[in-house]
Amino acid sequence: MTRTDLHDRVARTYNSETGLIAAKNRMVLDRQRQRWAGRSDPLRVADLGVGDGALLEALREALSLADGPPLVLTGLDISPAMLSLAAQRVPLMPVLSCASRAAEHLPVRGFDLVLAHFILAYVRRRALLRQAARLLAPGGVLSVATSTNEGAEPLLEQIDSLFRHSRNPVRRAVARAADHAFARSSVPATGADLVEDAAACGLHLLRRDRMRQIIVFNTAEEAYRFAIEDGWCVNVLAVPGLPLAMAQVLTRAGLRLFRYPFTFTQVIEMMEFSADPVSADVLSVTARMPVAVPV
Ligand SMILES: C[S@@+](CC[C@H](N)C(=O)[O-])C[C@H]1O[C@@H](n2cnc3c(N)ncnc32)[C@H](O)[C@@H]1O
Repeated sequence: MTRTDLHDRVARTYNSETGLIAAKNRMVLDRQRQRWAGRSDPLRVADLGVGDGALLEALREALSLADGPPLVLTGLDISPAMLSLAAQRVPLMPVLSCASRAAEHLPVRGFDLVLAHFILAYVRRRALLRQAARLLAPGGVLSVATSTNEGAEPLLEQIDSLFRHSRNPVRRAVARAADHAFARSSVPATGADLVEDAAACGLHLLRRDRMRQIIVFNTAEEAYRFAIEDGWCVNVLAVPGLPLAMAQVLTRAGLRLFRYPFTFTQVIEMMEFSADPVSADVLSVTARMPVAVPV
């Protein structure tokens, strides 16, 4: 099973109507509506890892209600099924590609707004940021939304205490699978890591917002729904040579070995960057903006 097939499967159950994805979309929508409402020139938007296109649809509606600019939309995704969901919601140019090669398929310096939301589990951070920076037109803005590993301690503690040092080889295999999944993901440990990587790719921070949500799984089935069906950790199924059905059975079995209820905090960072030099004025305004927004 390839990663593309995995995301095609997630497209069947992808839910942007409730939960963290909906909360992130509301917040980003609010910021982008404020940012672009007074503009009349068409706004060229590229969404890298567009998913079901819910945010683009909402942005189009919001800006048209606010007499904002018309949108020229491009959605890039590795999954044909996701691109098709997005194209059903909103008129866009669909581009089937890996985001780490976006600038090979899209016009360099051709976009006023580039979105890269919830894609760092699948694309190396600096590769994505470099591509996004190349796509930005002068005055353009990159919006990045990502979870971080800040609230992951309860998971790491369980992996260490129940699995890593166990005498049972099945339990030790769960620890190895978890290590493998963490190693393949490029989700930052903290928001500060993302800011540092962005700076190394020539991007300046314009604005930073954070959301936190406490998540409780009462059963292994609830954990499976979040991790696999909602797509947050779907990469754990991408084991080379292992058929999907077997990977699903093993993941379910592994999750049953955790202790429930299982509680952790999901931290979401939403940042805006510019590739243009940012004046000291802008930075000082940014520093006064609220950074903690509970869901
Ligand atoms: C969790 S969804 C996020 C969708 C959307 N950005 C949002 O915030 O709702 C991740 C999306 O990234 C896509 N994706 C995964 N790996 C990718 C890659 N290497 N290049 C481009 N898109 C990728 C998936 O197909 C999926 O549509």
